[in-house]
Formats: sequence, C-alpha cells, structure tokens
Amino acid sequence: MSQPRPGHKPLSVAVAGLGTVGAGLLKLLSENADIVAARAGRPVTVGAVSARTRGRDRGVPLDGLRWYDDPVALAADPGTDVVVELIGGSDGPARALVEAAIAAGKPVVTANKALLAVHGAAIAELAEARGVPLAFEAAVAGGIPAIKGLREGLAGNRIRRVAGILNGTCNYILTVMREQGREFAEVLAEAQALGYAEADPSFDIDGIDAAHKLAILAALAFGRPVEFGAVHVEGIREVTALDIALAGELGYRIKLLGIASRDAAGISARVHPCMVPVAAPIARVDGVFNAVVAEGDFVGRVMLEGRGAGAGPTASAVAADLIDLARGRHTPVWGAASGALDAAPSVPMDRHCGAYYLRLMVLDRPGVIADVTGILRDEAISLESMLQRGRAPGEAVPVVLTTHDCEEAAMRAALARIAALDSVLEKPALIRVEPL
Ligand SMILES: NC(=O)c1ccc[n+]([C@@H]2O[C@H](COP(=O)([O-])OP(=O)(O)OC[C@H]3O[C@@H](n4cnc5c(N)ncnc54)[C@H](OP(=O)(O)O)[C@@H]3O)[C@@H](O)[C@H]2O)c1
Repeated sequence: MSQPRPGHKPLSVAVAGLGTVGAGLLKLLSENADIVAARAGRPVTVGAVSARTRGRDRGVPLDGLRWYDDPVALAADPGTDVVVELIGGSDGPARALVEAAIAAGKPVVTANKALLAVHGAAIAELAEARGVPLAFEAAVAGGIPAIKGLREGLAGNRIRRVAGILNGTCNYILTVMREQGREFAEVLAEAQALGYAEADPSFDIDGIDAAHKLAILAALAFGRPVEFGAVHVEGIREVTALDIALAGELGYRIKLLGIASRDAAGISARVHPCMVPVAAPIARVDGVFNAVVAEGDFVGRVMLEGRGAGAGPTASAVAADLIDLARGRHTPVWGAASGALDAAPSVPMDRHCGAYYLRLMVLDRPGVIADVTGILRDEAISLESMLQRGRAPGEAVPVVLTTHDCEEAAMRAALARIAALDSVLEKPALIRVEPL
C-alpha cells in the first residue's frame, strides 16, 4: 500500500462517545492506520475525546488524547478538524454538539439515525448554509454502504422503491421464532439475555429504529428533506409463531421491512411486518443481518446485505466517511442542494394498495365463513385463497384468507367488522404481502 505523501497534514478527529461504536472506531483507526492513511491521502488521527465516565476501561488506549467532560466543547477544540458524534439520542448532547460543530464550521460525522430522522431537515439546512459537510454512512444499516450506494452509486437513476431489513434485533427474533417455532416474548427474553436486544427493547421491536433509518433512506432515494412523521410504523410484538408457520405453508417468510416508494400520488414510507415470497433474496436474509434493496429506472434492482450493527461494522462506516472528508469528497446531505429537492407529497397509509394475509380464530360452526366473506365483498375486497386448518366442531380453529390488492382503508373497515363478529374469538392477525 502506498504511503501518504510527506507533508500532508493529518486529519485530526474529535470523538464524542466512546461506547460500542466510539471504541470500535478508535480500534479501527489504530489497527488499520496504514490503509486508512493511504486511502485518505493523509493520516487520520484522534486528538480529542469525550464520554461520561472518564476512568472507564474501554479496551483502547486514551493516553495523550485531550479529554472533555462536556462533548459540546469538542466543537471549539482548536486542534480538531472533524467532529464525530457517537453519543446517540435525537436531542440532548448529541444534537447540541452537531449543531455547535456545524456553527463552528467543522465537518461532522455521525452514526445517529434518531437525530437525523427527527431533526435532519433542519440540521442539513444548517450544514448547507454554513457550507459544512455532514456525513452519516453509519446511521443506516451499520456496515452496509447503503447511503453511498443509494446517493452516489445510484445517482443516475430515478429510484422507484427502496426497502430493507433495517433492524437486526427484529430480524434475529423473527428468524429464531421461525426456526424454533417459539413465541415472541420468549425469544425476546432470550435475545436480551444474549445481548442482542436492549433492556428496553421498544425502539427496536416497535419499529421506531427501523423507521428512523427508512426516513433517511427515503430522503436520499427521492431527494427530499427527511420526514420522520410521515413514516407509518408497526412493530413485531403481535407476530405469532402460528402466523410464521402458516406463512411458511403459503410460501412466505415474515420480515419486518421498511419500504419507501414513489408513484404518481407521491411518496409513501412504512415499516411493518411483511410476508415476502420465500424465493425473494430478502427473505433469505436471516439473524442479525440487514439488507437494503433499491430499484432504479436504469439499474433495475440492487440488494446490499451485511451487518447492521456492532462495533466493527459501524466503525467501518464511520471510517469511510472520515476518509471521504480527508480527501475533500462530500455531497449535499440529501443528494442535491436544498433548492433542487423534491416537493412530492407524502401518501398516507390509508391509501396504501396491496395484498393482505388475514388470520382469524373462528368458532368452527356453519355460516362463519359466509359472514366473513360477505364483509369482504361489501368492502370490494376479493379473495385470493382461503385455508382452514383442521376441524373441531364448536371450538376455535384458525382460518387464513389472502386477498388480491385492495386499499388499506377498505381492509381496515372490513377488519373492524370481522373482529366484531361473535364467532371470531381473538383479535385477527393482519399482515401485508409484499412482492419484493
Ligand atoms: N451500537 C451499534 O451497533 C450502532 C450501529 C449503528 C449506529 N449506532 C449509533 O451510534 C451511536 C452510538 O451508539 P453506541 O451503541 O456506541 O452507544 P453506547 O455504547 O451507549 O455509547 C454511548 C457513548 O456516549 C457517551 N455519552 C452518553 N452521554 C454522554 C454525555 N452527556 N456526554 C458525553 N458522553 C456521553 C457514553 O459515555 P460512557 O461510556 O462514559 O457512559 C458512551 O461512551 C448512536 O447514535 C447509535 O444509534 C450504533
């Protein structure tokens, strides 16, 4: 590997947050210093750091680095060229630091999807106004170069749809539920014990983390400011082992997907459990792995798969951003300057059109199916298939219906009436079918 040219000043980095990602970044910059310097054209060195607890052993040496108790003070550190924010959270010190660094004219690298999803539109405007680069490869799908792939690699395409498995915790839980035929609560508890799920798992399992990432992907794919509030979000708490098994019988796997698409009406963005055909490449992305699929008008379909979290993969993405900055490479945050961004409206979930899987627990007695299909007919929903598992006169049996494409609003109206029938015993399960 060629050495950086002598005389090239190192890029001096300040790192706020020395947890999983921060410590991983310091390790990468130390162990791969030679190739990073060669690719960056100059050494990339850490000069200053900040975290909450100064004495904590982080598995990486901090000797000789300037320590700040207050991360926001890093923005004013005179020896710092680039500020790396790895604290997390949509507000608080992470936001204060990013805004202070931009105001001070210092390029920022962040892995913080919550911050970008919630405040990204304003922060991007600030960065553009100050002419300061803001890089965030690590914020979506960890080690997968999804941002670069979409914003730069596919820049010549009109993107029709971008979709992905964007949360490794959910994908791990759904994979174990399928492979071992176990229920959600039990697998979640085990994932927490193994360190694959947080003590408070709601951000992951309720789909919020995936929605943060989808909001960012949608902004990049369609060239418009990020709009987290427009993402429809459902998590995986209600997915059952029974539905996963029944989906398998029908030739599908259940995945938590984030999907953003564009049509004549505008842009829709949604995160929810989906049934995807077993043969679709994304159906085979299991365990903690993430994947991002993009469809462009000239390129066709592209899929990237890899590790969406963890010290190594996330540090890999942060390092790529630092190398870009060291080389002076950067693009506008959403791919185009604010004056050239798209003003397409957001399409609400009620207007979503697609196929559905509906699983009911019904009393096995005459007339029940006629009642259910009558309601679907009233709402102009046509059935594709129906499956009744076993016979148990007078007792509850599962009945599975799949529909042809219909509008979400019609399906919701039908579902409310079906759930109110005497013979329907539990809350029906509804899963959208996605032909990915
Ligand atoms: N973990 C992943 O795999 C992953 C993947 C992609 C993106 N990300 C994103 O990367 C960011 C960091 O995640 P992480 O997993 O590394 O988090 P983490 O392990 O919880 O580390 C957070 C770090 O921030 C420090 N910190 C918290 N509050 C602070 C404050 N007020 N002042 C100074 N330092 C403070 C903590 O200090 P102490 O250590 O002293 O407590 C800790 O070092 C988040 O935005 C996350 O969403 C993480």
